[in-house]
Amino acid sequence: MNAVAIVPAAGSGVRMQQNCKKPYIVLAGQPILCYTLSALDLAASIRSIIVAVSPGDEELCREQVLRRLKLRAGVCIVAGGERRQDSVRNALGALTGDCDVVLIHDGARPFVTSEILDRTARAALVCGAATAAVAVKDTIMRMAPGVQACPEPLAREELHAIQTPQAFRPDILAAAHEHARDGGVQATDDASLVINMGLPVALVAGAYENIKVTTPADLVHAEALLKTLG
Ligand code: CTP
Ligand code: MG
Repeated sequence: MNAVAIVPAAGSGVRMQQNCKKPYIVLAGQPILCYTLSALDLAASIRSIIVAVSPGDEELCREQVLRRLKLRAGVCIVAGGERRQDSVRNALGALTGDCDVVLIHDGARPFVTSEILDRTARAALVCGAATAAVAVKDTIMRMAPGVQACPEPLAREELHAIQTPQAFRPDILAAAHEHARDGGVQATDDASLVINMGLPVALVAGAYENIKVTTPADLVHAEALLKTLG
């Protein structure tokens, strides 16, 4: 298998409420993005990595992240965009050469394992598109923004928390992004763009440990996970 990984890491981390941007927040001596890239580097399916960073942060990423790591995979840095899907699209523009699968993994998910990455890439080879997911633990209710009461309870056994990695055949991912741009479709992940185009996405087992570091409480959780996972 010959997979290229795209790592969106160009967000501003509004929910984290810190001065330091999320990918560069240090956990146990290393920026979060170092853990993420090291995990991707261990996956047998991945031959190269394209990282999307905030425009102007290219040197920061080289200095604070890449310089600390000795990665087997080739790494290229591109400038991200306003929304996550713009960052992924910019990274898609930097794809060179043939690959079987494009694997997308959030820079803010440092605890992914090579097993999850390779499992997701293999599922995409078979199904065209695949995403890691876990069963939701909370009861989820739907309520429109601004509405004060009467949420609609949803059946928990039907609900899945969608994670990254997500993996796609390159033609499907390119078509989904083109379709989204033409139709003004917005989504917080790439599997949603594929589903919006009417194509199926396979769910593969993610992990509860594969958290997206999003709020200050997640930093505490991440520190604890680092101690237990080693
Ligand atoms: N991301 C990106 N480009 C953007 C927005 C997000 O590459 N314009 C990346 C983030 O850096 C992160 C991943 O997409 O690795 C998932 O996004 P999220 O957790 O929402 O991070 P932020 O957008 O940075 O956080 P927030 O939404 O709280 O501002
Ligand atoms: Mg965001």
